[in-house]
Amino acid sequence: MRLHGKTAVVTAASKGLGKGIALKFAQEGARLVIASRNEANIQATAEEIRNQTKAEVIALAVDVARKEDIDQLVHTVQANFGALDILVNNAGGPPAGSFLDFDDEAWQNAFNLNLMSVVRVTRGLLPLMMKQKSGRIINITSGGVKQPIPNLILSNAIRAAVNGVSKTLATELAPYGILVNNLAPGRIDTDRVRELDQITASKTGASIEQVKGTWTQQIPLGRYGEVEEFANVALFLASDESSYITGQIYVVDGGLLKAY
Ligand SMILES: NC(=O)c1ccc[n+]([C@@H]2O[C@H](COP(=O)([O-])OP(=O)(O)OC[C@H]3O[C@@H](n4cnc5c(N)ncnc54)[C@H](OP(=O)(O)O)[C@@H]3O)[C@@H](O)[C@H]2O)c1
Repeated sequence: MRLHGKTAVVTAASKGLGKGIALKFAQEGARLVIASRNEANIQATAEEIRNQTKAEVIALAVDVARKEDIDQLVHTVQANFGALDILVNNAGGPPAGSFLDFDDEAWQNAFNLNLMSVVRVTRGLLPLMMKQKSGRIINITSGGVKQPIPNLILSNAIRAAVNGVSKTLATELAPYGILVNNLAPGRIDTDRVRELDQITASKTGASIEQVKGTWTQQIPLGRYGEVEEFANVALFLASDESSYITGQIYVVDGGLLKAY
């Protein structure tokens, strides 16, 4: 029980990486507020986690791209927990495509979804960490922050800004005992990655298996990662064991990126 008695918020948690992290935190004793856009899906996930772990899980329909929804999330956390130990900023991924595919509106949407969500949720919940002089903020980004991923220009561009925010915040919040780190997935087996592989398959005329094969050939560990393998790293960053780590990017990609 490495998170016994801790409170945690995980956004975009009805499936995929967010759900895996929420489940892992609940298994380790945390009380949770989880959120995603679809009310039925997030309630079903909360019920599943409660059944598996007996943890206290509050679920909320929140679109993290919308300020009003985030205000509601902050209000719920304040009203139910009064204090916050762990915040995982996660969101859906922006659409795939290259430079000429996107107009101003698409860029603005990606900005709201993947950068302003981090800014607004963190700003709203930070006072609950600052007053207790401790906390962990974990932002889910992408391996694209180290090496741009083809056909994902919105993600490659906007997530770089999240690096800037979190590295700066790590310094600003250190005096409050709040640690800020980013987790960057490579190819973890979720719906998002399956959809991206499907898009590449449709674009190139290859089969999904061929697309996946091309990726796994580049991954030294020879496979996509499991959600739990990713959640294990989030658990480490959320736990007391990461007490001397802040301002870092943890890439979880089976060795995919070749840069130092
Ligand atoms: N899986 C990987 O290997 C990988 C690699 C690189 C980057 N990433 C990034 O990591 C993040 C999570 O990816 P994933 O693979 O877990 O995706 P996923 O399996 O598609 O799950 C996405 C989750 O985000 C929620 N969501 C989407 N838009 C939202 C919004 N505007 N507000 C609140 N919740 C929202 C979805 O629920 P609702 O539909 O109910 O909102 C769902 O729970 C994404 O940003 C993705 O681009 C993932």
